Amino acid sequence: MQDAASPPPALLGIDLGTTNSVCAVWQSGKAILIPNALGDVLTPSVVSLDEDGHILLGKAARSRLTTHPERSAAAFKRFMGSDKRFQLGDQGFSPEELSALILSALKQDAETFLGVEVSEAVISVPAYFSDEQRKRTVFAAELAGLAVTRLINEPTAAAMAYGLHEQSLHRTLVFDLGGGTFDVTVLEYALPLIEVHASTGDNFLGGEDFTSALVQACLDDWKLAREPLDTKAAASLEDALEQLKCKLLDGPQTLHWEHAGQRREWYLDNELAHRIWAPLLLRLRAPIDQALRDARLRPQDLDNLVLVGGATRLSAVQKMVATLFGHLPYRHLDPDTVVALGAAAQAACKARDQAIEELILTDVCPYTLGISSMRGEDNSGAFSPIIERNTVIPTSREQRFYSSLPHQRFIRIAVYQGERPWVQDNTFIDAFEVPLTPTEETQAIDVRFSYDINGLLEIDVTLLENGERHSHSIDHTPNGLDEEARARSRQRLAGLKIHPRESLPNRTLAARLERAWAKSTGNERQQIGEWLDAFNQILSAQQTADINESRQQLNRILDELHL
Ligand SMILES: Nc1ncnc2c1ncn2[C@@H]1O[C@H](COP(=O)(O)OP(=O)(O)OP(=O)(O)O)[C@@H](O)[C@H]1O
Ligand SMILES: [Mg+2]
Repeated sequence: MQDAASPPPALLGIDLGTTNSVCAVWQSGKAILIPNALGDVLTPSVVSLDEDGHILLGKAARSRLTTHPERSAAAFKRFMGSDKRFQLGDQGFSPEELSALILSALKQDAETFLGVEVSEAVISVPAYFSDEQRKRTVFAAELAGLAVTRLINEPTAAAMAYGLHEQSLHRTLVFDLGGGTFDVTVLEYALPLIEVHASTGDNFLGGEDFTSALVQACLDDWKLAREPLDTKAAASLEDALEQLKCKLLDGPQTLHWEHAGQRREWYLDNELAHRIWAPLLLRLRAPIDQALRDARLRPQDLDNLVLVGGATRLSAVQKMVATLFGHLPYRHLDPDTVVALGAAAQAACKARDQAIEELILTDVCPYTLGISSMRGEDNSGAFSPIIERNTVIPTSREQRFYSSLPHQRFIRIAVYQGERPWVQDNTFIDAFEVPLTPTEETQAIDVRFSYDINGLLEIDVTLLENGERHSHSIDHTPNGLDEEARARSRQRLAGLKIHPRESLPNRTLAARLERAWAKSTGNERQQIGEWLDAFNQILSAQQTADINESRQQLNRILDELHL
């Protein structure tokens, strides 16, 4: 029971993004964005390890991607659920450990903003995230000291935020292109009901790929191979082209880049960008077609199109979308923050906050889940669906299977996700064995899949012969996130030194000046060097008012110089 004197728990919504993370809270009947230590609402999902062994997060870490790429990590959400480890100096981290560091920073920002301790949050994940990736996200939150009250699909969260603002959206397609993932969701507003009809996506398609394509095209034009470039040179070129990409809306851009004592230039306008991105733009089509087909709609049947995610600012993407749907997309709310606002609204729903009690949301399972069964000539590896994609969740479905041979001592249940007829082409989720009593005849089993609103799967197998039931929740994951691995992660994070929140504005400016120094040459570089020295001197004098004034002034100058 909650103590009558203690404040109600904060209703946090977190968008843990590939490029940026955002935190919002439901307060006084609306969702509010929470600023970080720098006063920004977007916190870059980047982690860096300082030379003195301290962890740096957010903007400071992002600046260090170019100056200290071997000690910094970005876009780790793309590898959630894999074995990949990121090396930061002499320390290795898993994607969920790095995500946990970002979540801890957001938790601290929320606690500072709200003045109370925060222990729960609704966290958004790409609709197309697998069971494994969802579990890893929950574990990352646990490492950060946050209990996940619900995982919500990112486009659904965005739809929820729009549902609070608009009364007449009807049939809507949410097109969510972030830094690393692409999700398409078709839904219908019949307020207070928001009903998702179909959801699909590509976990390896986002704004980062548009930048990578520019890097490749630019290197090709210069007849340079990527391999001989050292990590720093590659990181600086990528950083420069990321900036160029974001300025393309203002008109054609020219890149100036110096490498190995040679100055180079590269010209980019919208037409050339369009050509370079043609394969990526084409890849955006397949999930759109599938979502519409699954929802049994044609593009002209949609009343609205909502764009979410920073990469929908690309004019090439907007043009493609406008051509496909024949009308201009709707982008009333900020595409960068709408997911976090929706997640906070979902937290309020979950807590039955009066202001929002009315909104009812139904979501779907975006992929087909099933098991491997024997079929066909060679009697192996067929995929037998149990829950079809776009089934409304929560759901529980059962199917009967038979052992294939007499005297069989066990039956192996191998669980897969995907849309292909053979399991080898789908994603393996888990496998376990159910013991049988050997008999002359083959035996029947009922396999039940229960998929909850967080997108997590439980399996029950019943032996028909004796009614014996075997429950299996999927926690022995293929990549080995067992209790031992979890304990190691907890220990590793507990042993880290993290830069205190208060010191972040100064560390961020120092990192920004170092990055600007690395980028520039000649007089400009000399000037930046002087600023860096002066700022370090002011820091060592430890006069807070002077430090703050100097920091503000230098940040302003760097803003004006676009550095
Ligand atoms: N003005 C702009 N023009 C083009 N692209 C932009 C612009 N601003 C941001 N982006 C791109 O948006 C992407 C980041 O978007 P966003 O913050 O929505 O992603 P995310 O939520 O972190 O990622 P995801 O949702 O895939 O996990 C980056 O690839 C960035 O380059
Ligand atoms: Mg996003």
